[in-house]
Amino acid sequence: MALLRYLLAFVSVGIGGLVRAQAEGSTYDVLDYVDQLIGSSNGGNIFPGATIPYGMAKAVADTDSESNQGGFTTDGSNITGFSSMHDSGTGGSPSLGNFALFPYAGCPGDDVNSCNYPKKSRKTKFVNSTLKASPGYFGLQLLSGVQVDMTAAHHTSLFRFKLPATDQSGNASSPLILMDLTDLSDSRQDNGTVTVDGTTGRMTGNARFLPSFGTGNYVAYFCADFSGGTIRDNGIFANSRASADVKTLTISRSINGYPLPGGAFVRFNWPGDNAILARVGVSLISSDQACSSAEREIPDFDFAATQKAAEDMWREKISPIVVSRKGLNDSMLKNFYSGIYRTFVNPQDYTGENPLWKSDEPYFDSFYCIWDLFRSQMPFLTVVDPATVARQIRSLIDTYRHEGWLPDCRMSLCKGYTQGGSNADNVLADAYLKGISDDIDWQIGYEAVVKDAEVEPYDWCCEGRGGLDSWKSLGYIPVQDFDYKGFGTMTRSLSRTLEYSYNDFVITKIAAGLGGRQDDVEKYTARSGNWKNLFKADQTSFINSTNTGFTGFFQPRYLNRTFGFQDPLTCSNIDTNPNSVCSLQNTGAETFESSIWEYSFFVPHDQATLITTFGGPSAFVKRLDYLHDQGITYIGNEPAFLTVFQYHYAGRPALSAKRSHFYVPSFFSPTNAGLPGNDDSGAMGSFVAFSMIGLFPNPGQDVYLIIPPYFESVSITSPATNKTATIRNVNFDPTYKNIYIQSATLDGVPYTRNWIDHSFFTEGKELVLTLGSSESAWGTRVEDLPPSLGTYEGFGNFSGSGNGTRSERKRDAKYAAADLSVGLGKNNGGAYWAENEG
Ligand SMILES: *[C@@H]1O[C@H](CO)[C@@H](O)[C@H](O)[C@H]1NC(C)=O
Ligand SMILES: *[C@@H]1O[C@H](CO)[C@@H](O)[C@H](O)[C@H]1NC(C)=O
Ligand SMILES: *[C@@H]1O[C@H](CO)[C@@H](O)[C@H](O)[C@H]1NC(C)=O
Ligand SMILES: *[C@@H]1O[C@H](CO)[C@@H](O)[C@H](O)[C@H]1NC(C)=O
Ligand SMILES: *[C@@H]1O[C@H](CO)[C@@H](O)[C@H](O)[C@H]1NC(C)=O
Ligand SMILES: *[C@@H]1O[C@H](CO)[C@@H](O)[C@H](O)[C@H]1NC(C)=O
Ligand SMILES: *[C@@H]1O[C@H](CO)[C@@H](O)[C@H](O)[C@H]1NC(C)=O
Ligand SMILES: *[C@@H]1O[C@H](CO)[C@@H](O)[C@H](O)[C@H]1NC(C)=O
Ligand SMILES: *[C@@H]1O[C@H](CO)[C@@H](O)[C@H](O)[C@H]1NC(C)=O
Ligand SMILES: *[C@@H]1O[C@H](CO)[C@@H](O)[C@H](O)[C@H]1NC(C)=O
Repeated sequence: MALLRYLLAFVSVGIGGLVRAQAEGSTYDVLDYVDQLIGSSNGGNIFPGATIPYGMAKAVADTDSESNQGGFTTDGSNITGFSSMHDSGTGGSPSLGNFALFPYAGCPGDDVNSCNYPKKSRKTKFVNSTLKASPGYFGLQLLSGVQVDMTAAHHTSLFRFKLPATDQSGNASSPLILMDLTDLSDSRQDNGTVTVDGTTGRMTGNARFLPSFGTGNYVAYFCADFSGGTIRDNGIFANSRASADVKTLTISRSINGYPLPGGAFVRFNWPGDNAILARVGVSLISSDQACSSAEREIPDFDFAATQKAAEDMWREKISPIVVSRKGLNDSMLKNFYSGIYRTFVNPQDYTGENPLWKSDEPYFDSFYCIWDLFRSQMPFLTVVDPATVARQIRSLIDTYRHEGWLPDCRMSLCKGYTQGGSNADNVLADAYLKGISDDIDWQIGYEAVVKDAEVEPYDWCCEGRGGLDSWKSLGYIPVQDFDYKGFGTMTRSLSRTLEYSYNDFVITKIAAGLGGRQDDVEKYTARSGNWKNLFKADQTSFINSTNTGFTGFFQPRYLNRTFGFQDPLTCSNIDTNPNSVCSLQNTGAETFESSIWEYSFFVPHDQATLITTFGGPSAFVKRLDYLHDQGITYIGNEPAFLTVFQYHYAGRPALSAKRSHFYVPSFFSPTNAGLPGNDDSGAMGSFVAFSMIGLFPNPGQDVYLIIPPYFESVSITSPATNKTATIRNVNFDPTYKNIYIQSATLDGVPYTRNWIDHSFFTEGKELVLTLGSSESAWGTRVEDLPPSLGTYEGFGNFSGSGNGTRSERKRDAKYAAADLSVGLGKNNGGAYWAENEG
């Protein structure tokens, strides 16, 4: 098949107005650099199978691994079947994995009763060398010699079974393909049902299952048709027995806590060299809808055409991002493009498949979870696929309309568990500030975020915020709060306080933009300072019995305003205490999946005040270094993301560049075990992608922090405007010694700010960065720093070591005061916000 080729030509305007055209001279197919197996072992939990962008049908081989959340794993586990619905990168119990097919070349003694039906006993190894995955495709060969390939359309999987001439005992093949009413978590409830049509072999069925990290349940439906072989007989199986005389089965969950195996089968005459194709439509509405989707999407069982259509969709999504490959090996390119690929796998577009309410709005599912997604995945999609982000926002708002609240985590039509704040607020604000508007009702969007801030849900396990009375009266979430209005897990008081503070801040951004809401702007700006109420200035931190040397940390606080105590290192990456409980358990810590040390930096809106609180920029940098150098933070969990780049706020953008290279590629490599933790949808993928592009978002604000791209140049064409934004490195060094910006121009004009806004992408600007091997004064002045609610204090002139290592900064309050009094205009945090909130 002919590959699309992309010709790269950069046109840049020099300072002297000189127009220069630079052709890279080579072309490539972006899909060549997508490796879906990255993260398929070592807990990455990615979905490595066949799907289209945001597709609902996700076909893959499922394994019996304990880490099979994404279906397939490369950890030596057995294949249990081939199912059609999956999530990607999630923790929690395995999600979806509904309706598994399993093939046999024949049944022993040619007796359908002798085939092995239950998943626990039929599972088998596959031949490692046969494993192949590419966008829109996944395939492998089972030890039995049956080759299984798969591709997918939006609601339909297409499986291709190639069968050997003889079965495993050497008798002539008579293939049997079974369909199991199962899912990955064995959560099937009572009365799963399947029917097989005696003539055509069409199977339809449904069952009720449980969501993997939430409440309630959902019913999934399927419709399977077969092609390519003549049917011998068909029927159903229950437990380990089968009969061609019975065509319909309704099966109990059984009483022993494990769903009784049950499903249907079709047996064929051996088709020779022809493959048997199984087309599986899925739906959350009805089997009829599953059948009609399948007939519409893959009418002729054409495997090659379906695969090509999927590839074309992937190419369309990814190819607007083009880099210069000069000096780079495939490993860096695979890291990059595979990360980008994974950002498009989830959330899933279930529009037309939502049985919960009637609406013409789009419906997306698998926001799993927004605590992970808001930080960089949603902002990444806002750059590369704004039209889809608009539809995702409409879906979030429509969920608010019909369920009363924005979701915080959502999967399989169910409400998922909230991990911290009402972080959909951050997603809405980020999109709003970046001009995402297509058909979005921002008035209702605003109503939804204000409800999060004002009205406590009765059950705040799964939406909104808890402890709102205390939030409003005390200005923090107390440890052991008294809350008789709403109920949820009474932990995480510290991380919830920090997240709610930021949630309140982002409300001000939407309020200011919509206009006429000055009271709200003031009210939520005030509340966004609530993080200060948990700061305990004399709190120390010891590692074992050694003082870390840092004083002043957030601490939990009781209703009576007395501080409690949580070791600032509890639930950190170096916490060795076996009694630490860090997730959603009732006995969990006051920080969620993270330590006070790491959460200390989570004041994304007011870094200036935080820096002052920590003793000024130099002390702030030391603390940030300590966080990373001692391994207190772990890049495999999302709260770490922004900390890599927060040096920018202390006037040290060079240190963000250095820290980014500390993590990429050593913690992210293009191998099956190459992800440092669950991908969490495509969160890790988006971290790598933004890091390597050289712009990292502070989500919920129109701010990207600038470091040099990992490529000589990178260009991104905005699908919203068709304009191409380019970042070009002068003195690019592929061994990454020159990673320090010496100077910059934006569209030919000198640029000293260490951050840029979203118009860079939509207006197709060009940023040229001149690099060197040591830290420079670029981007270090107060007027160069990103916006912050408070005022930057304690910043002197740049006095970097000139060799890129950490250096002491002048920190003279008098000078700083003098600096600030010069009137720094709109770059001086407070003034910037004020100007933009008019
Ligand atoms: C197949 O690969 C897995 C993991 O990559 C390994 O554990 C297993 O031993 C391999 N099997 C063979 C037969 O090489
Ligand atoms: C695969 O299944 C076999 C047979 O049930 C079992 O002995 C083996 O432990 C399984 N392998 C893994 C890695 O789970
Ligand atoms: C092979 O087929 C013959 C004839 O149907 C049958 O008698 C025999 O049991 C089969 N062997 C096995 C191992 O299934
Ligand atoms: C399953 O079907 C049986 C028999 O029709 C019925 O009594 C039972 O209530 C059903 N269970 C559920 C959970 O619907
Ligand atoms: C602290 O002590 C524990 C238990 O002895 C040890 O495993 C850990 O490495 C120590 N941590 C540091 C940073 O020294
Ligand atoms: C405040 O409440 C906590 C928890 O109930 C208690 O331990 C502490 O002694 C109280 N402080 C004062 C000053 O009453
Ligand atoms: C961008 O270009 C494509 C292809 O030429 C065109 O279909 C689309 O309308 C353009 N979009 C805008 C916003 O100009
Ligand atoms: C690819 O390049 C990176 C960055 O220079 C380097 O760390 C890595 O070792 C290289 N990998 C290979 C396989 O050469
Ligand atoms: C870099 O600067 C540091 C601090 O000033 C100094 O200790 C170090 O020797 C310098 N290194 C080089 C290579 O110049
Ligand atoms: C910063 O440097 C400039 C130019 O060298 C100098 O005029 C100014 O006094 C310095 N300010 C501080 C705070 O050191």
